[in-house]
Amino acid sequence: AALERGSHADYMAKEIDEQPAIAARILDDLVPHIADGSLWRSLEAPAFERIAVLGCGTSLNAGRVIARAFGALGGIPTVSVVASEASETILDPGTLILALSQSGETADILRALDQLEPVSAGLVAVTNNPASSVARRAASVVDCNAGPEIGVAATKTFVAQVITGVAVAVSALVATGRIDRSRAADLTDDLRRLPDLLAQALEVSKGVVPGIVDEVLDRSGFIFLGRGPGVVFAEEGALKLKEISYRWAEHYPAGELKHGPLALVDQGTPVIVVDNGDPRLASNLSEVAARGGRVITIGGAGSTIPAVGMSMSRPLVGGMDRWGPLEAVVPLQLFARELALRLGLDVDKPRNLAKSVTVE
Ligand code: G6P
Repeated sequence: AALERGSHADYMAKEIDEQPAIAARILDDLVPHIADGSLWRSLEAPAFERIAVLGCGTSLNAGRVIARAFGALGGIPTVSVVASEASETILDPGTLILALSQSGETADILRALDQLEPVSAGLVAVTNNPASSVARRAASVVDCNAGPEIGVAATKTFVAQVITGVAVAVSALVATGRIDRSRAADLTDDLRRLPDLLAQALEVSKGVVPGIVDEVLDRSGFIFLGRGPGVVFAEEGALKLKEISYRWAEHYPAGELKHGPLALVDQGTPVIVVDNGDPRLASNLSEVAARGGRVITIGGAGSTIPAVGMSMSRPLVGGMDRWGPLEAVVPLQLFARELALRLGLDVDKPRNLAKSVTVE
């Protein structure tokens, strides 16, 4: 095992470092089949009017990013379903289920599929294990191709699921006539920039994250904020922190801060912000600063952690893309890992958690 880890101190470090190369490999495979719709057609999936993404933990967060791609790029109504709560979900007719599961063995997902699949338009599985139970149930399976992930807290499989899922989304939109080919080609070009963006994010973050962690080592609670496409990344950052550092972390859409969680902020409270360039963030953050909170921004140039590049060929406000600043996950992963290591914890095997949970 030590050999496989190579020079890395732990599997989590190795798996975080692998992300740019994995992104490049996935895109080498998929890019020729995105803008002509052939990736989607090869899945032989049914026609759909809506998308429901289904998953647990980090895979559900990846699903939420993919749902945003279907919505923001193609105007498709989407819903995200927490697998363990699927019995509470009423699907609109014409809903295609996109099930996300790294292991493909999560009991909550299999149970959710028992309930939802019969009333859906069909099922597409995105998994890191094409021989798994979830994959065997689905007529259409996409391998997210991240290679084995050993760290219990998912890192590279999040990136692999998002890239694979967004590629599927773009291909589906063009194959079903919702976007034209030149638009699909532009969106594919954006995807191709991701390996470089992830590599840049790694380099920048490794330089600045340790110093930031120094300042917040003794803090017991952390708040993660975002707006729009940034919210799910705030959620994933808070999840990583909880999983491996055992510190309390809350995530919120930044606009909700004033409706409750602002009461948690006092002198030195760390508030980590995924800054997607939304101008409304500034007033939310000045509320934090006015109460002595320690604002740590992850965004473009001028941010505390300037790890986010411009992922769109036609930048929107602040230059961030429409479906999510994927490279923002890198500093969030490194932040959680660095904090956990400094607290003397095993980042690969957090207490109470399992890599794959086969009980409901
Ligand atoms: C467990 C793992 C998480 C993972 C979740 C879903 O809780 O500890 O890291 O995100 O299961 O797993 P799956 O294999 O379905 O993606």
